[in-house]
Parts: sequence; structure tokens; C-alpha cells
Amino acid sequence: MTLADVDASAWAELEGAATDPQSAFRYLNLCSVDAYGRPQARMVVLRRVDVTRRLLEIHTDVRSPKWQEISADRRVTLLGFGPQPKVQLRLQGSAELNGPASECGAEAWSLLPRSTRSTYMGGPPGDDIGEPPASEGKAADADGQAFFGVLIFRAETLDWFQLRHANNRRAIFAYDHPGALTSSRWINP
Ligand SMILES: Cc1cc2nc3c(=O)[nH]c(=O)nc-3n(C[C@H](O)[C@H](O)[C@H](O)COP(=O)(O)O)c2cc1C
Repeated sequence: MTLADVDASAWAELEGAATDPQSAFRYLNLCSVDAYGRPQARMVVLRRVDVTRRLLEIHTDVRSPKWQEISADRRVTLLGFGPQPKVQLRLQGSAELNGPASECGAEAWSLLPRSTRSTYMGGPPGDDIGEPPASEGKAADADGQAFFGVLIFRAETLDWFQLRHANNRRAIFAYDHPGALTSSRWINP
């Protein structure tokens, strides 16, 4: 496999994951830094990928700690792992936050199924509740939109690592702002 093949296959995996709930890369670990400089990590669903521009779309609640953290510091890392073959993708870049009033936020909201919309209707993420509600589904979805945000991640580098029996492989790729591949090289795993 050439470096160009590795880059292309990694991005093809990510692109496929956005529409395939069975893909290992459907769920990524989104890492940010909080106001105290502590690393924070959480799983998120990969919603959309623009391979040409190296963009990944993630949806979240604008009241969540991650939204606040990323508002203050746009540098984020996305980490994923696919078991077959054993490949880790570590993407570093920056995030653009689009709130409910933005065009991007309104468009993404309009495409959400009702069940997903209802997840934005409860109280602020992280607030105490007595017990989890017994039934799913909340009645209406009118006010959930006010809390819905779209995070657009722009990859600056990809650290690709393949775990193998004897000889692991690792390569680093860098992208410019429009998303073109500007450098690629094999490195020691
Ligand atoms: C498989 C899985 C997928 C998740 N997807 C999302 C998601 O797409 N967006 C989101 O805001 N939280 C998602 N969560 C919840 C987050 O991992 C996290 O617990 C929550 O958003 C609070 O994060 P924060 O306190 O760091 O803001 C998901 C959790 C799991 C287990």
C-alpha cells in the first residue's frame, strides 16, 4: 500500500461511516481541553464527511461542557479505531461551532428524525435528575432546536496506525486549508 492509498482508504472509511451505523468509525472519540487545561474525551456520532475539504460533522447540545470548552479553544482531536484491520485514526484539527441560529444548524436540524430531535429537549446535559425517565420519546420537539449545535471539524493532520502481528505501520498526513494533502510520510510506529 502506498501512502496515497493509505490516505484514500482512511478517508473512504470515514466517509462510509457517516452513513453506516455498523462501521467502527461511526463513533469517534472527540477530545478537547477544558478551562483548566485538562484533557476531556467523549464519544460522538460521525454525522457527515466531506472528504475533499477534510471536514467531519458532529451534532451536540450547545449547553454541554464540550460546546463551552471548544468555544474557548477550537483545537480538538478525533480518535477512532477499526478492528478489521486494526487501524487507529487520530485526526487533529480545529472545530467551527454553528449554533441553532446559524444556517448550517437550521439545515442540519431540518434533516433530523423526530426521535433524534427529542434528545435535545430535556434539561441541560450534566444537570442532576432524580431517576432516568421510564419511557423514551418526549411529546413534542418544538424547543429542542434552541439547544442544537453543529460542530464542523477540519482535519489538519491524520496519524494513521495499523497494529499488525510483527511489523506495525504508521504514517502521518497533513492537509492545507482547502483540504489538499500537503505531506505524507511513514514514521516509526
Ligand atoms: C456511542 C455514543 C455516541 C454518542 N454520540 C454523541 C453525539 O453525537 N453528540 C453528543 O453530544 N453526545 C454524544 N454522546 C454522549 C457523549 O459521549 C457525552 O457523554 C455527552 O455528550 C456529554 O459530553 P460533555 O459533558 O463532554 O459535553 C454519545 C455517547 C455514546 C456512548
